[in-house]
Amino acid sequence: MEKDLLVLLNEKRVFNPPKKLAENSNVMKWMKKKKIKSYEELLEKGKNIEWFWGEAAKEIVKWKKPYKKVLEWKDHYAKWFVDAKYNIVFDALDKHKNKKKIAFIWEGEPKGEIKKISYKELNVQVNKLANAMKKLGIKKGDRIGIYLPMIPELPTAMLACAKLGAIHSVVFSGFSALAFRERINDEEAKLVITCDSFYRKGKTIPLKKFTDEALMEAPTVKNAIIVKRTGEEIPWNPKRDLWYHEITKKALSNCKTELMDSNDPLFILYTSGTTGKPKGIIHAHGGYAVGTGITLKWVFDLKDKDVWWCAADAGWITGHSYIVYAPLILGVTSVIYEGSPDFPKPDRWWEIIDRHKVSVLYTSPTAIRMFMHFGEEWIEKHSLKSLRLLGSVGEPINPEAWIWYYEMIGKGKCPIMDTWWQTETGNHCITPLPITPLKPGSATKPFPGIQADVFDSKGKPIVNAGGELVLLHPWPAMLRGIYKNPEKYQKTYWETYPETYLAGDVARIDQDGYFWIQGRDSDVLKVAGHRIGNSEIESALVSHPLVAEAAAIGKPDEIKGEKIAVYVILKKGAEISEELRKELAEHVTKEIGKLAKPSEVWFVSDLPKTRSGKIMRRVIKAKVLGKDTGNISTLSNPEAVEELLQAK
Ligand code: WTA
Repeated sequence: MEKDLLVLLNEKRVFNPPKKLAENSNVMKWMKKKKIKSYEELLEKGKNIEWFWGEAAKEIVKWKKPYKKVLEWKDHYAKWFVDAKYNIVFDALDKHKNKKKIAFIWEGEPKGEIKKISYKELNVQVNKLANAMKKLGIKKGDRIGIYLPMIPELPTAMLACAKLGAIHSVVFSGFSALAFRERINDEEAKLVITCDSFYRKGKTIPLKKFTDEALMEAPTVKNAIIVKRTGEEIPWNPKRDLWYHEITKKALSNCKTELMDSNDPLFILYTSGTTGKPKGIIHAHGGYAVGTGITLKWVFDLKDKDVWWCAADAGWITGHSYIVYAPLILGVTSVIYEGSPDFPKPDRWWEIIDRHKVSVLYTSPTAIRMFMHFGEEWIEKHSLKSLRLLGSVGEPINPEAWIWYYEMIGKGKCPIMDTWWQTETGNHCITPLPITPLKPGSATKPFPGIQADVFDSKGKPIVNAGGELVLLHPWPAMLRGIYKNPEKYQKTYWETYPETYLAGDVARIDQDGYFWIQGRDSDVLKVAGHRIGNSEIESALVSHPLVAEAAAIGKPDEIKGEKIAVYVILKKGAEISEELRKELAEHVTKEIGKLAKPSEVWFVSDLPKTRSGKIMRRVIKAKVLGKDTGNISTLSNPEAVEELLQAK
């Protein structure tokens, strides 16, 4: 961390966006309309929060019944656009229902498999599925677990739920059967939607098999709808399972969009936090539509002719907001790709960009570092001339990767929008606009209407020193709570500083007001941009019969940002062996998914703890990385710190 910090502190380069791009940008057009003359003035105006979001709403949504008040704020729960009648599907789909314009260009991993789906076709598919779900008894407020890979049926399923006023909960297809089970049980899902299997790196992943395993102990789930993706043989439960293509074939293509309150829940998305159990983050229809729509329109400047590629998975918030809802609200054409970036060769992405003339690309620092590692020869074969803007999300981008992305992919002409945000925030919060001077490695400044700061431990704003990143005022796309866990909601986000949202990230603001995000505090890991709780990995480990205690930490990794190292105390009588090391890594994979598989498993006889018995991950991390451990005299067992270096 110290070395990275030093690099960041010395990063002085500033890149101005091309004049023409800035002049023609959506945000600049709006500024002209409002007689706002500069970026600084825009941010100043944005401090009038309720005015700003009221104006933003006019740009993005059409309420069925107008709101009475922009914001109601009570006990840390927000209601935005109070009393408006709405459903996000009105703007994402219904208003485009006769358009021949392509909504999604989809590529399957096997080469040559391409589908182009118009807004009109998408609308028919969503209506048919919604009608089929209605027949199964699905109604407003029901929870639906969606466990699908990147195939067009994933956005279709999300929209069909939203249309009925049901609450979708997408679980990333890389999560394990047990992780899926835990989530659908927490939310008491009535229905799940999944597929037979899908392609990844030339192999098939048996999602239906995982689903069956999950459903072995999921008493609330009455039915499973199965998309036929690969056509592989799958086990079948005739009492529960239904083929997607059969039930939608028979269904009518017209289904009423349920009229909701603007603050009714749209979805639950589980994410990692400080405890072993993931938390169900709730988002609502109206504010989420406004927030995601305006950020996509201004940050990525999408216009009618653009081809947008948010190369994330719709199983994460990035995909919810910027593959599904916001692009559809804006009516743009998006690319969706099912498979691995290096299949069949490391230039699959660049091929896709040239083939579909992608103009704006949004990806993660991990992906960028992976492409740097593959070598430039894979990029030089392609023109990439359709690109005009680039984006980065999910973890801090190191200046080296930023410059490489700017030069190799953007050919020095595409500004990079480094967007900081979270599952909880719903939309970009700290981010440049195409009119912002850029500093490589900095997410620059808060979006208008968002107030952010960095606080010291006493809650005082600090400049040019690391502290806690906080948001000072509610915003429309903010989370509306943690499903069935109001105490955790209060404790995690609102109890550290009064009336202030705690992001859980460490950041620094420089003398120009630019934000430099340094990473999560010690409770959450970011591995390849995926958010995984240290304690989730630890609880998976201690569920193994031979493990007594465990600590999971992140170690720097050149490509993935962080890799997982675990320190394990075995139960009495258990023997250390190479097999056990592998078995424990596999055990975590089974409990959570491949994304959480430890890269290193170490055996120790003790772990440093506080007097109250809390394992000190921070101390372990400092010690094994050869850094200063700080004062360890208050630990109950300081000798355990030295022992870490003898870990087997
Ligand atoms: C990290 C992903 C630095 C951060 C949208 C945050 C970032 C967490 C950036 C949320 C960025 C996201 N620069 N760090 N541009 N974007 N992060 O919920 O630690 O999967 O708290 O949402 O990702 O992860 P989540």
